[in-house]
Amino acid sequence: MGIEIKIVGFNSPLYNQAVALREKLLRIPLGTRFTPEFLLQDKNNIHIVALKDGKVVGTVLAKPVDDKTVKIRQVATDYSVQGKGIGKKLMLFAEDYARSRGFERVILHARYYVVDFYKKLGYSVIGDEFVEVAMPHRLMVKKL
Ligand SMILES: CC(C)(COP(=O)(O)OP(=O)(O)OC[C@H]1O[C@@H](n2cnc3c(N)ncnc32)[C@H](O)[C@@H]1OP(=O)(O)O)[C@@H](O)C(=O)NCCC(=O)NCCS
Repeated sequence: MGIEIKIVGFNSPLYNQAVALREKLLRIPLGTRFTPEFLLQDKNNIHIVALKDGKVVGTVLAKPVDDKTVKIRQVATDYSVQGKGIGKKLMLFAEDYARSRGFERVILHARYYVVDFYKKLGYSVIGDEFVEVAMPHRLMVKKL
């Protein structure tokens, strides 16, 4: 399966495809949609997509939060391609991107049912469970 991972521009056609995929995977199952206010945050993020036959099938956002730290957000791969290593590839691409720019750690808010996916990638849980988008989450961190 030929998969290309690349960075796309904010508001580009591939960004718009990625937003649709994020909404399908991360909001519609919860019975909600993105608000314009939420999407405003996207402007200052790096948008990484996985392409299969030119179509966006996976996405990850990387947001610098301070000189040393990048926050990974909105991790999703389409239902038809899950379990094929694309989520892992996207995460490693985002980590390489952050490392190459001098960042020292990655943080993320993991939905409770995906904690083990991030553990396999070397992330550790910090602190107690908290609720975000009406769902239990854990703060996770990885040193680069
Ligand atoms: C979570 C998600 C991104 C994983 O993507 P994926 O492309 O299916 O993952 P991969 O195929 O790259 O999996 C990499 C490894 O993690 C494991 N894994 C995948 N999802 C897992 C999960 N939910 N729990 C535990 N392990 C998981 C795989 O078995 C694989 O293990 P291996 O390396 O031993 O073979 C994808 O299932 C998804 O988009 N889910 C819906 C949206 C979501 O909840 N996103 C997370 C928000 S915090």
